[in-house]
Amino acid sequence: MRDVYGREISYLRLSVTELCPLRCRYCMPEEGVCKLRHEDLLTEEEMLRAVRTAAGLGITKVRITGGEPLTKPNILSICRGVSGTPGIRETVLTTNGIRLPELAVSLREAGVSRVNISLDTLDEGKYAYMTRRGHLQDALAGIRCALDAGFEKVKINAVLIGGFNDDEIPQLAALTQRWPVDVRFIELMPMPGNQSFGSESYIPVMKVLKCLPDAVPCDEDGVASLYRLPGALGHIGLISPVSRHFCAGCNRIRLTADGRLKPCLHSAEEFSLKGLSDAGMAEQFRRAIRAKPECHGQLDAVNRSLTRRGMSQIGG
Ligand code: GTP
Ligand code: 5AD
Ligand code: SF4
Repeated sequence: MRDVYGREISYLRLSVTELCPLRCRYCMPEEGVCKLRHEDLLTEEEMLRAVRTAAGLGITKVRITGGEPLTKPNILSICRGVSGTPGIRETVLTTNGIRLPELAVSLREAGVSRVNISLDTLDEGKYAYMTRRGHLQDALAGIRCALDAGFEKVKINAVLIGGFNDDEIPQLAALTQRWPVDVRFIELMPMPGNQSFGSESYIPVMKVLKCLPDAVPCDEDGVASLYRLPGALGHIGLISPVSRHFCAGCNRIRLTADGRLKPCLHSAEEFSLKGLSDAGMAEQFRRAIRAKPECHGQLDAVNRSLTRRGMSQIGG
């Protein structure tokens, strides 16, 4: 379905849980998020009906997100249901990677074709600091298992944070020379709950290119501009939601774990699907797509996202 600005909406980001065993400082408060009441969550049946409805309106790609989607006990069944939905051509997933050693092969068998894995640093102490409770070795083991499981593509997401990991750009980028992965540097977004990051933390991804003089520009891929290092097996991606937003090409809609459709990551508007019939869900999808704003406003440490949810309650 096209929105009022002519953008074809074909990509659904489906958050299956707000929970996560980690507490990344840019994503979640230390105490985690308030656990939703069971009756407020979408059931698996409702999620799959929402996906079927979305497919009927032209959605062809579903990205399963969280919180951390691999903490959801019925994640494999959800993935099987999504990938088996007529019209859904791509079922992909974003994860912190920690449970991939147990789940990678089963996810592949459940129809997940690609995974994106969060990894912001290669330093054990810094990983423990940023995630507040994670172990770098667990995330690296997850990446290795994803590579062994035969996904069509594995991408690494590194949120670029001034004073935290901007000194590691060459090392993170060099992962593309060691493994067949894309490494994407993402500008930090100012979301509710991450106000403790000052203006020095927000740095444009163009800084990455200054540190990689040998990087050669390639195509675009979704929201990422791609580059390649000599001899690399994968691409470097730059994702610039803050310095150069990509709203004009936005093809997404989001569904939260409690059943709210979000027309835009950065707006407060939401449309509930909870408890609705197929026809009711389809009408809410149409409303949400029609309500997609042309663009979100300026984002920085002072001009913050207008959404009322933290990132873990949206799914990125
Ligand atoms: P691909 O399907 O591999 O292209 O993945 P993706 O980039 O769509 O998804 P992923 O979950 O890996 O998200 C990467 C980063 O891009 C995260 O920080 C997301 O929050 C951010 N992102 C994804 N979609 C949007 C969007 O529509 N607007 C903004 N501002 N950021 C987005
Ligand atoms: N800004 C940019 N990216 C973020 N992510 C989580 N919070 C933020 C933020 N405030 C990233 C995660 C994950 C992806 C879904 O979103 O690192 O890779
Ligand atoms: Fe968990 Fe991902 Fe949020 Fe980190 S960014 S706390 S891994 S949901």
